[in-house]
Amino acid sequence: MENNREKWSSNLVFILAAIGSAIGMGNLWGFPYKMGVNGGLPFLLIYLAMVVLCGVICMGVEMAIGRKTGKSPILAIGEVAKKFKFVGWFGTLSAFIIMGFYSVLIGYSLRYAIGFAAQLLLNLDGFNGAASGAEFFVAFTQEVPAVIFYTFLTFALCAVFVAKGTEGLEKFNKVGIPGLFLILVGIIVYNLTLPGAGQGYTFMFTTKGLEMAGAKFNFFNAVRTAGGQMLFSLSLGMGAMITYGSYLSKEESIAKNAWIIPAFDTLAAIFAGIAIFPAVFATGNDPAAGPGLLYMTMHDVFTSMGAVGNLIGLLFYVLVIFAGISSAISLMEVVSASIIDGRVAKGKKTERKTVVMLVALAMFIISVPICADQLGIPGEGGAFWGIYSYLADGSKDLLDFYDMLTEGFMMPLGALLMCVLVGWKAGFPWMKDEVLADGKKWKMEKFFQICVKFVTPVLMAFVLVSLFLSYLGI
Ligand code: TRP
Repeated sequence: MENNREKWSSNLVFILAAIGSAIGMGNLWGFPYKMGVNGGLPFLLIYLAMVVLCGVICMGVEMAIGRKTGKSPILAIGEVAKKFKFVGWFGTLSAFIIMGFYSVLIGYSLRYAIGFAAQLLLNLDGFNGAASGAEFFVAFTQEVPAVIFYTFLTFALCAVFVAKGTEGLEKFNKVGIPGLFLILVGIIVYNLTLPGAGQGYTFMFTTKGLEMAGAKFNFFNAVRTAGGQMLFSLSLGMGAMITYGSYLSKEESIAKNAWIIPAFDTLAAIFAGIAIFPAVFATGNDPAAGPGLLYMTMHDVFTSMGAVGNLIGLLFYVLVIFAGISSAISLMEVVSASIIDGRVAKGKKTERKTVVMLVALAMFIISVPICADQLGIPGEGGAFWGIYSYLADGSKDLLDFYDMLTEGFMMPLGALLMCVLVGWKAGFPWMKDEVLADGKKWKMEKFFQICVKFVTPVLMAFVLVSLFLSYLGI
């Protein structure tokens, strides 16, 4: 069906926006800490396999659904098969829950940026005299009103971008994404000068990681964490890439874009790992520290740099915030676009600004319990531990629990169902037709066909089973 939706002005703009959505807290915060908890190399290898066998495939599937229907997820999936429409709803719900904790993470980063700015520009102590990154982080996460304030600030920033349209952000991405890579490379090089940094490479690239983290390897846990993390990092499994694909013009290559975006995203995750792990060991942090790893370690690294560390720290966190916001707005966009499309279908006015404000407000409300949870009081779980500990499957805080619920369960299920939808219900020729719309040859057609029908759904089912098994403590 033809549609006259607004289109991306060029493939570069599309790629930048999609990479902007993909690269975010998932790469910088999630990937290193999850690799740390799961012992380094084995996790890395499972992750890479997941990217190639599932990530690339789901990316292609979502872009094809989006471009072919020209609609946002709920309507798009409903158009392919009515019975699958709930997958779109499910994705919208995931977006709400993800933003509930994603915003808190960006909020933390805002606090760090402001702390380094205060030290750099005003010569103040930006971190309340804390002796180490860990000490500050633990104290800060327990200041509930402050955390709520920074989370609110995050939503305010995002809402401005989504409501005003994303042109400004796209321009920023053009500089911000290369900037982020550059500063990661800078930190990687700086790490080489830190005594003890070598252990970080040993941790990431040899099998000694588990021993070093003092952890036991649990295969099912690693599979479900890597599988979920991969979907999360690539913004898959909940319709974000359907939305992005719906703005993609027919001349552009889905076949190629499905590889390019995961390639950059994975590179960013690995760079984040190489920037963080050597520093973890050099600064005496714990590789298996969990969700606070990025914040605690990088804080110590910038402190170790002396005065210039304030500048580098500020720069780093500003880029992290932008990487986070360009992802967060895609989460808000998925929900807002669905509501707006629904309104248009009913013949109502779009009211984009009002819709975005209400979506942001609802997401903010979801984030408040996470702020209040204090991310794991030392030695125990978060403040709500008693209420949900029986649900929480080893996660000790609400943030981890929201994370597990979405990337561990809802998104693998979404990805699985989308593969079934395209591979079996609509049939592979349905997708092939859309991929070939650019008029070029599709070299990897057979690979895609086999994966969409068999490999990817089976692996996604395995991720779900692994979640269940690791729940039972197997
Ligand atoms: N991929 C982003 C990250 O790694 C997070 C994100 C943005 C996302 N949009 C999404 C995750 C949609 C899942 C679905 O930080």
